[in-house]
Amino acid sequence: MSEVRPTLPTVESAAPGGTHVPLIDRYRERLPFAAGDPLVSLQEGSTPLLRAPVLSELVGATVRLKLEGANPTGSFKDRGMTCAVSAAVREGARAVICASTGNTAASAAAYAARAGITCAVIVPEGKIAQGKMAQTLVHGARVIALQGNFDQALAFVRELTDTHPIVLVNSVNEFRIEGQKTAAFEVHEGLEGRLEALCIPVGNAGNITSYWRGFRELGAAPRLYGYQAAGARRWSRGGSSSTPKRSPARSASGVRCAGRTRWRRPGTRAARSAR
Ligand SMILES: Cc1ncc(COP(=O)(O)O)c(C=O)c1O
Repeated sequence: MSEVRPTLPTVESAAPGGTHVPLIDRYRERLPFAAGDPLVSLQEGSTPLLRAPVLSELVGATVRLKLEGANPTGSFKDRGMTCAVSAAVREGARAVICASTGNTAASAAAYAARAGITCAVIVPEGKIAQGKMAQTLVHGARVIALQGNFDQALAFVRELTDTHPIVLVNSVNEFRIEGQKTAAFEVHEGLEGRLEALCIPVGNAGNITSYWRGFRELGAAPRLYGYQAAGARRWSRGGSSSTPKRSPARSASGVRCAGRTRWRRPGTRAARSAR
């Protein structure tokens, strides 16, 4: 009997350089942290860059997937959160807050717990992914549901942090953008600078801004393709005249926001260079 063996995708470099090194340690010279600063880490970053043979065949190009779900709380938010919470602790903060529909909440809750400080999360009522809500509660965050959408929840926490000594850890916090740019460093290193295009989901354009910043710092300029939820205000060319709907796409909870947070901020530049 002849044995038919399936052809398996090859596994590339099992352990990317820096695995298990906290992200701030790995890229300290490119981040706003000095040796000896408080480090709040759950060993984020250094995620796999996986070859995707089926997708490659489908699109006729070599496709790789950056598995950001391999971060400690399951999303890329951990890259920014290690920086935002470390900086908050450095400033002496005793509490952080965010508005979120899921991933940011879970990440903020986990890093605040690691730091031993309080985390409050404002969620648009009924619009948070249940698994993420569970994670957030398990990590001990105080969760308050607000009637309205994500953008209203964000406006509320911005107002609150303007008048109270609580650090806002949504992606309007520059440390979040700084931390998340390390994903671009890893992709660039993993492919030895040969990346041609990056495809990425876009909500408030924090993450695409981070990648754009990371690549620019390395002198790289891959094409950036951003994908928004249907109904959100368009970031790309001609987008400024379109009106955001109040409740964009119900199915993609991670990008379910009108996309106004970084409007006229650096995200606009990242989005303009996105095609
Ligand atoms: C899984 C996932 N993808 C994409 C996004 C959108 O990121 P940004 O708002 O930085 O564009 C989010 C934001 O919550 C997310 O959780």
